[in-house]
Amino acid sequence: MNDKRQSTAETIASLRAQFIRHERFDPLHARFQMLLEKRLADLSAGRTADSHGIALSGASGTGKSCAASQLLAGARRRLATSSLPEATLISLRVPSPATLKFMGQMILRALGYSLSSERQAWYIWDLVRHQLKLRQVLFLHLDEAQDLSSRGTKVELNAVASMLKTLMTDPHWPVGILLSGTEELERILNHDPQLARRMSAIHFAPLSAAAHARDTAGLVESYATRAGLTVAPDAQGIDMAERLIHAAAFQFGLVIEIIIAALEVALLAGSAVLWANHFALAFEERSSCSDAFNPFIVGDYHRIDARKVFTREDN
Ligand SMILES: Nc1ncnc2c1ncn2[C@@H]1O[C@H](COP(=O)(O)OP(=O)(O)OP(=O)(O)O)[C@@H](O)[C@H]1O
Ligand SMILES: [Mg+2]
Repeated sequence: MNDKRQSTAETIASLRAQFIRHERFDPLHARFQMLLEKRLADLSAGRTADSHGIALSGASGTGKSCAASQLLAGARRRLATSSLPEATLISLRVPSPATLKFMGQMILRALGYSLSSERQAWYIWDLVRHQLKLRQVLFLHLDEAQDLSSRGTKVELNAVASMLKTLMTDPHWPVGILLSGTEELERILNHDPQLARRMSAIHFAPLSAAAHARDTAGLVESYATRAGLTVAPDAQGIDMAERLIHAAAFQFGLVIEIIIAALEVALLAGSAVLWANHFALAFEERSSCSDAFNPFIVGDYHRIDARKVFTREDN
């Protein structure tokens, strides 16, 4: 049994590490690459132009954090072979509370700089800008960027927005900004037209059963194959894919999480075949719901609100 657990854990870990290049990723990738190339071109020509940014919004579980880390990994590879191999990008989760001072401290920490004593916000931000230049940081990624406004007052929100603008328009070392967060992020941009002007907004829309069922069925197939399993007839087909999309509250990343969870159930049971029942069990395990709320069991699953029953694991 221990062997089976270990081999299952290894298979699941490798499935989770895989990135699926979906159709919504490509425009984001293209835009980000363009910003990066422009900045590199400016730097090698000795010009400084304002940097721009991207705001990626979408519902929880759609795959924003995953897409952003994929972008950053690609950009790091690109930088390593560029004329500026020392240049870098940093990524952090917006701290809570997202006060200006706390944000500055977190950025310094992400840069590996530790403050020796309590300092005022203006001092911290002077240091941040100095360090960003010193470390040749081209992009700053802030995940969970909706938290920039959640607790703060309007005054704090204005301060954070103007800090982001200041970073992008710094005459000595402009830094590009990548924000990712839930739909409330759009509210922050709407609040500040000057910031919005410098950011391209990209939205990861939910899946629709009609448009994405076929691709989803393909995903089940390819994940199962990768895990060394075949897909049973009752776990194939459009009806099953539509149930899966519904169970995932129409979010791409959650579709993948459920597929991987179903494969885990199948592997632990020692099955060489992925059955619909494995999806039902996986859903039950994740949401601790009764059969009546399990979209893989009931006939009229459309009435189930998967947002309410399917809670995400924190990762
Ligand atoms: N393109 C992808 N390929 C493979 N797995 C993915 C992909 N996109 C998302 N996932 C998986 O889906 C899950 C949810 O993705 P992610 O954490 O990126 O969502 P999110 O949009 O950042 O959600 P939240 O707003 O709750 O932070 C993760 O387990 C992630 O590994
Ligand atoms: Mg996230």
